[in-house]
Amino acid sequence: MEKRILIIEDEERMCHLLKLVLSKEGYSVKTARDGMEGMILWQMMKPDVVLTDLKMPGADGLEVLDFRNRQFQQVPLIILTAFGTVQSAVTAMKQGAYDYLTKPVDHNQLLDVIARAVADIQNQKGVSHICEPQTGQMIGSSSVMKKVYDDIALIGGIRMSVLITGESGTGKEMVAKAIHGHSGRPGSPFIRVNCAAIPRDLLESELFGHRRGAFTGAVHDREGAFILADGGTLLLDEIGDLPLDLQPKLLHAVEEKSVTPVGAAKARTVDVKIIAATNHNLEEMVENGLFRSDLYYRLNTFHLPLPPLRDRGRDLIEIVEYYLDRFCREQGHRSLTISAEALKLLHGYPWPGNVRELRNVLERVVLSCKNGTITTEMLPEKIRCRTPTKKGAAPPSFNLPSQEKQLIVAVLEQHDWNQSESARKLGISRNTLRYRMKKYDICRMQ
Ligand SMILES: Nc1ncnc2c1ncn2[C@@H]1O[C@H](COP(=O)(O)OP(=O)(O)OP(=O)(O)O)[C@@H](O)[C@H]1O
Ligand SMILES: [Mg+2]
Repeated sequence: MEKRILIIEDEERMCHLLKLVLSKEGYSVKTARDGMEGMILWQMMKPDVVLTDLKMPGADGLEVLDFRNRQFQQVPLIILTAFGTVQSAVTAMKQGAYDYLTKPVDHNQLLDVIARAVADIQNQKGVSHICEPQTGQMIGSSSVMKKVYDDIALIGGIRMSVLITGESGTGKEMVAKAIHGHSGRPGSPFIRVNCAAIPRDLLESELFGHRRGAFTGAVHDREGAFILADGGTLLLDEIGDLPLDLQPKLLHAVEEKSVTPVGAAKARTVDVKIIAATNHNLEEMVENGLFRSDLYYRLNTFHLPLPPLRDRGRDLIEIVEYYLDRFCREQGHRSLTISAEALKLLHGYPWPGNVRELRNVLERVVLSCKNGTITTEMLPEKIRCRTPTKKGAAPPSFNLPSQEKQLIVAVLEQHDWNQSESARKLGISRNTLRYRMKKYDICRMQ
């Protein structure tokens, strides 16, 4: 059955965009422009999940949360928050909100958090919040993944910084949460900062906090992520996108275990486990002068590389089984089987987007499968139309770097070589785009 989502957001563009992204995924979406309208609509449509902005004219997000706590405790409520108001989102989570998303909202993250919320209702596990992050269920019993699970258990108990690397969608965030789950500090905070999604000027204050009057617009004191994560874990996600000029301050905070908020005179000691994650090759970035070597070595005290899905052997079948079963339950489908040919095609595909891409494909296939078996025709063209590779041989026609280069050049051309627009289109930061252009030696031919 289609899951119903209610979005309460006063900014028209944001509201429209969120609706578009969620509708495309097959959710049934209704929108309200302020808290009061939201609460009325809530009563009428009985949504499965609600997304609400915090700051709105009239009844705000906290009032909506209060309404949910009184009448609809089983419905996960996700807070949308602007940079600079993350602290209020954390407060909201302590009062029962499910999770929060920072604007501008990352589409993958949005879909992930909604899928998680929907799965939680389905499994009747109740709601989780930021202080008790779900470690999630990592599927796969290949020897390479068993080594990852051993590392998670080992490193969880040690207060040592960890660097998780791996291609996009390999489960870096999931692993970070699992490490936190093994930290032996139940109820301690898990805070994630996405260094690629936050503009440079805001990132410093997001990480370290600021004092009132430290800069124009700093009307209140604000705690940064280090302080919010005190006693728990801080995930510095997409660390490869951290601007060079912020790196010394981060190094100091990690080494000294103390932070000085922008505009403050005194430093504050913090006890935080640092996990950094990236899909960039940091070593190469260090060589190219794009990442400081001292910070790299400090973060890399323990390196946890995640293998791409195509190197995990039988895990693919286990993941297919797990997600087919889960999506069938979520979508109210009777159980489905998958034909041997279709499974073979899934095996032969190189999965550049790894587990996330596989999960998304399966979700769509379950939606469109009308009989009891998934056959090859139901798979997306990119998977169907690949020539099968010989067992054990590297896929001959697939070369990720060259495809990436072609894609970047095509998008730059499309946008008349405007780097900001192209980066936005590609879903990466301008710094990352510049780094890739340098790496692949891309420049505009006159
Ligand atoms: N081993 C696994 N078993 C089941 N699901 C997984 C596994 N690994 C990843 N996933 C799912 O794949 C999606 C992507 O995972 P996650 O966000 O942790 O990846 P990531 O490496 O951080 O991706 P990105 O590089 O794009 O940030 C999530 O929906 C997660 O639930
Ligand atoms: Mg990630």
